[in-house]
Amino acid sequence: MILISDQKDLTNFLNEKPFKSTKLTLVPTMGNLHEGHLKLVEQAGSVSNFVCVSIFVNPLQFGPEEDFSSYPRTLSEDLSKLEKTNCSLVFAPKVDDMTFGIKQQKADPFLSSIMCGKTRHNHFDGVVTIVNRLFELFQPKITFFGEKDYQQLMIIKEFVERKKLKIAVEGVATERELSGLAKSSRNSYLSGEEKKKAALIHKTLINLKQLLLDFNGIDSVIQQAKESLEKNDFNVEYLEARDRYTLKESSDPNNIILLCAATLNKVRLIDNLKL
Ligand code: PAF
Repeated sequence: MILISDQKDLTNFLNEKPFKSTKLTLVPTMGNLHEGHLKLVEQAGSVSNFVCVSIFVNPLQFGPEEDFSSYPRTLSEDLSKLEKTNCSLVFAPKVDDMTFGIKQQKADPFLSSIMCGKTRHNHFDGVVTIVNRLFELFQPKITFFGEKDYQQLMIIKEFVERKKLKIAVEGVATERELSGLAKSSRNSYLSGEEKKKAALIHKTLINLKQLLLDFNGIDSVIQQAKESLEKNDFNVEYLEARDRYTLKESSDPNNIILLCAATLNKVRLIDNLKL
């Protein structure tokens, strides 16, 4: 496994190798790798002989009040985990190298204005700006993103389509703790007790799914689910039912995805469940 830490070295390396015949796949991450990320790497390895992983805590996607400076940076542990996978190359650039002179990109205005976009202004512009740069550098055939960040996945798919990039964007199902809690780097901010409680988000989505499949009215069951989370100390930012392909509001049970963002003791958690 090769570790490269700046853009110039990466470009030189990729230009030297006979990569034209290689099916290069890319897994963009912000590090602090958990089983969810390793599953993305595994899926990439199942279709490719050259899996690249980027590790970069992207300042462009954090708001001024968010956790950019405290976001866990665990490069040496991440590298040891990746050594045990089919990852061939890790790209872990410094902030200045990656952001200096970068071409700003815009996420789709509708997809980036709903749900997380309501409170995380410019977050998705920051995501597509960095992801676009990674695509320019690696020119991957296929790239992998977790479905936990479903809104992000839809925004990247739209971006790739709009820019007519020849890259397949694959979503990979969310990895969960036994309790049902979606695996996330930010779970490391939670205590043991909080982790137990945080699993209530997934349980609530499962209950909600069942209620909706039993033909209950959508607005009232969503309201009840929100209230039940709030009674358990969550601050619910949103809990919505949307079309899983367009993210428009929907009440058609065939295509619904339920999406939730809630904070528990200031830790912001997101999750989703398809009907
Ligand atoms: O999902 C993430 O970890 C980040 O948003 C991504 C896609 C690596 C861009 O910085």
